[in-house]
Amino acid sequence: MNIAVLGAAWGDEGKGHIVHHLSPRYDWVVRFNGGANAGHTIYRDNVKYVHNLMPSFDWRADRTKAFLGSGMVIDLEQLHKEVNAIVAATFQFQGTAIAKRIYVDPDAFIVLPEHKDEDKANNGHIGSTNRGIGPAYKSKIARKGTRIRDVMEGASEHRHWIEGMKKLGVQFKGLLELRREMEHADLLFEGAQGVMLDINHGLYPYVSCSESTVAGVYSCGFHWAPPTKVYGVAKVYTTKVGEGPFPTELGGEEAHKLRERGQEYGATTGRPRRIGWLDLPALNYACQKGGITDLILTKFDILNGMDKIPVCVAYQKDPTCSSDFFTAAPQYIDVSGWENANNDEELVDFIRCVERGTQVPVSYISRGTTPNDIVGW
Ligand code: IMP
Ligand code: MG
Repeated sequence: MNIAVLGAAWGDEGKGHIVHHLSPRYDWVVRFNGGANAGHTIYRDNVKYVHNLMPSFDWRADRTKAFLGSGMVIDLEQLHKEVNAIVAATFQFQGTAIAKRIYVDPDAFIVLPEHKDEDKANNGHIGSTNRGIGPAYKSKIARKGTRIRDVMEGASEHRHWIEGMKKLGVQFKGLLELRREMEHADLLFEGAQGVMLDINHGLYPYVSCSESTVAGVYSCGFHWAPPTKVYGVAKVYTTKVGEGPFPTELGGEEAHKLRERGQEYGATTGRPRRIGWLDLPALNYACQKGGITDLILTKFDILNGMDKIPVCVAYQKDPTCSSDFFTAAPQYIDVSGWENANNDEELVDFIRCVERGTQVPVSYISRGTTPNDIVGW
C-alpha cells in the first residue's frame, strides 16, 4: 500500500519526524517536490538531523530506499553534502553501503548559483529562503532549465558532484527503469512545504514554486502507484515563515512564549517563525485542495498545561478561494486544554473539534520527538 504525507499548512508541521517514523514499513520514501528550501527535522537515536533534499527515510531499516523525484529542483553541491553526511553517519557499521539505497531521477532539474542570486535580489518580498527554488522552476517552465540528465550527458562544470555521488554508490535512474520494482513495493511519498504554499492552491503570490498537494505525486510520474491514503500533517497551533496572510497570527509576548516552547525557528534559515493559533478554515481548505484523507496532529506537548486553547473555527466569510484568506476575520472558540499530552483522555475535545472543522479523521498524533511519542489515534 502506498501513502503520501503532506504539509497541511505553511510547512514545518513535523512531516520529517512522522515520515522517519513510518518509513521502515515502506520500501521507498519518495520526495516529489521542492528543493533545499525544505528543512525536515529528524531525531534518530536522540541526535537531531535536518534533511533539506534527502527524503526523511530511516536508514537503519535495510528495507527502505530513498528516491528523489523529477518534480524536485536539486542543488547538486547540497545533495553531495547530504549524501556524504549520511555515509559518514553510517560508515562505522556498513561502509558506504547506504549510498546504494539512494536513487535520483535524472529528469529532475538542477539549481544553479545564479538562481540563488536571483532569489536574493528579487524575492525578499515573498520571504524566500534564497535557495534558488523559484528561479530554478522558472527556467524549467521557460524551457531553459538544466536537468541532471543534461549534466550527466554533457561537459558541465557541475558534473563532478554527480561523479562523486556515483562513486559512493548513489544511483541515477529514471522512473521507467524502476517502475517494475516500485510497482511491487510499498511507497511513501514525502511532501515538502505545505498546501498553503502550493504554487496552484496556496496563497498566491506568497507561495513556493512547486506542487505540495497530492498532484505533485502524479506530475512526478507515479500515476501507476497512487497513494491510497493521503495524510496531512498539522501542528496543534500554526506557524509560518516568510511574508503573506496569516489570519490567526499572534503578536507580542504570547507569540514569543510559544515560539520558545516549540523552538519555532526555521530549520533551513534559522528565521524566527511567525506563530498563531490553529486555523480550522485554513486546515479545511488545505484538506480539500490537497487531497488529504487523514490528519496527523503534532506538537501536543508544546501546549501542555493550558487550561483553554483558542482555536479558529470560522471566518466571517467562509473561504472558498485563496483570495479569501487575505481579508479573513477569524472567529475563535476556547477548547479544553490538557495538563499532559500523554494523557489521551485530555486530548479528546481538541481532536473532536479538529475533526468537526475539517470533516477529516485524525489518524495519528505526535507529542514529542521520540518514536514512542507518535501514536495511532
Ligand atoms: P522559496 O520556496 O524559498 O522561494 O520560499 C517561498 C515561501 O515559502 C517563503 O515564504 C518561504 O518562507 C516559504 N517556504 C519555502 N519552503 C518552506 C519550508 O520548507 N517550510 C516553511 N516555509 C517554506
Ligand atoms: Mg521545515
